[in-house]
Amino acid sequence: MTERCQGDTRPRTGPRARTAIVLAAAALLAATSAAFLPGTASAGTTLGASAAEKGRYFGTAVAASRLSDGNYTTILNREFNSVTPENEMKIDATEPQQGRFSYGAAEQIVNHARSRGMSVRGHTLAWHSQQPPWMESMSGSALRSAMLNHVTQVATHFRGQVVAWDVVNEAFEDGTSGARRNSNLQRTGNDWIEAAFRAARAADPNAKLCYNDYNTDNWTHAKTQAVYNMVRDFKSRGVPIDCVGFQSHFNNDSPYVSNYRTTLSSFAALGVDVQVTELDIQGASAATYRSVVEDCLAVARCNGITVWGIRDSDSWRASQTPLLFNSSGQKKAAYDAVLAALNNGTTPTDPPTTPPTTPPTTPPGGSCTATLQDSTRWGDRFNSQVTVSGASNWTVVVAVTPPQKVSNTWNGTPTWDSSGNVMTMRSNGSGNVFGFTTMANGTWTRPVVRSCTVS
Ligand code: G3I
Repeated sequence: MTERCQGDTRPRTGPRARTAIVLAAAALLAATSAAFLPGTASAGTTLGASAAEKGRYFGTAVAASRLSDGNYTTILNREFNSVTPENEMKIDATEPQQGRFSYGAAEQIVNHARSRGMSVRGHTLAWHSQQPPWMESMSGSALRSAMLNHVTQVATHFRGQVVAWDVVNEAFEDGTSGARRNSNLQRTGNDWIEAAFRAARAADPNAKLCYNDYNTDNWTHAKTQAVYNMVRDFKSRGVPIDCVGFQSHFNNDSPYVSNYRTTLSSFAALGVDVQVTELDIQGASAATYRSVVEDCLAVARCNGITVWGIRDSDSWRASQTPLLFNSSGQKKAAYDAVLAALNNGTTPTDPPTTPPTTPPTTPPGGSCTATLQDSTRWGDRFNSQVTVSGASNWTVVVAVTPPQKVSNTWNGTPTWDSSGNVMTMRSNGSGNVFGFTTMANGTWTRPVVRSCTVS
């Protein structure tokens, strides 16, 4: 399925043949529903682009203090399409004195990301660690109120800018007890976690709300089961939880295990998204990185992967050299393995969906040509790829049909109109093919290319 902007409005070779087949077999297709069109996108050359072609994001933790490092930002801007502030949204950073909020460093990261079309994961609203001194010394109902106010204020401040929040972080004990961590927050009452989620939902109804933890990767571990039981309970009682984050800090004491995929799929089966939120692997085994990516791609509700830093020297565990780039910013073998896994990933077992029904349209004029092709499709979203010819410094305007929303883009710099439905994509030096993911929200109309102009 193809649409073209300016000039020839029909697809030419393979797509035209496919169109003919579709027309000839329309009745049959109507009866059987063309459930899944194989991806037509070429293999991506960056982590973000390749993940996006699989309907996922590939993100990294970002430190505001490193945004002035050109080597760092070059890799960040080239490779990643999601960022998580490493420390800048934590409680001690955002509310250093009670009732006095400080968002400067976090906003620096948010603005850097969003101006380049990257999405932002918020980390974290409620946590026993990195509390400011005033909160550490609080207890009881005063602490409960302060915590809820913090959640409300911060989530409200970043409303519309953060796609997913780690609402609560690391609330369970390690070891075999399966118990809640004995923190000052826990001592305010066992319902503190759900109270935090309800406050976050009220403050930002559109953000995905996640529970995030470490050592929850091994399906057989008590901590994993304890979190699973909490999520199951929350879903059964209508507590607003949308996703579970698996930090996945793998090392010799807490290694990757082959049942990781079972863990991801078991949580997803509860009706939540799953995200790999802080991935690093001691020694950066290429095989282990590849396995993690393959596991995520095999689980339809695994939205994406975030590595916890860019270069080894950026890591909280720098001596373990656990990341995808060495300290000079060069790609490691693990990078190649991740990129290859993203490009050759297994096909998610998503439910079939109905193909778009809007016929190709002829957009108004422009001084270059933009051709939109359908690409991979999942149960809730689909990818489109636009090929531009006639200019290298192009600007292409694409419109989606409400309530559709573009959730991800690659190989271009997007801006949106105030409705959020019209995307202006500008070339960013990544070539003449860009792509984007559209959340269908129940509407499968194909996006329309409105114009292609030379900038
Ligand atoms: O910025 C100050 C600096 O001015 C000061 O001189 C120095 C002295 O120690 O500290 C610096 O702050 C440090 C900060 O990282 C920035 O580098 C803090 O001490 C240090 O505690 C903090 O560590 C962070 C850690 O969370 C704190 O718990 C790591 O960067 C961060 O990567 C790590 O991230 C956590 C996730 O949030 C949750 N999951 C586990 C993960 C790893 O611990």
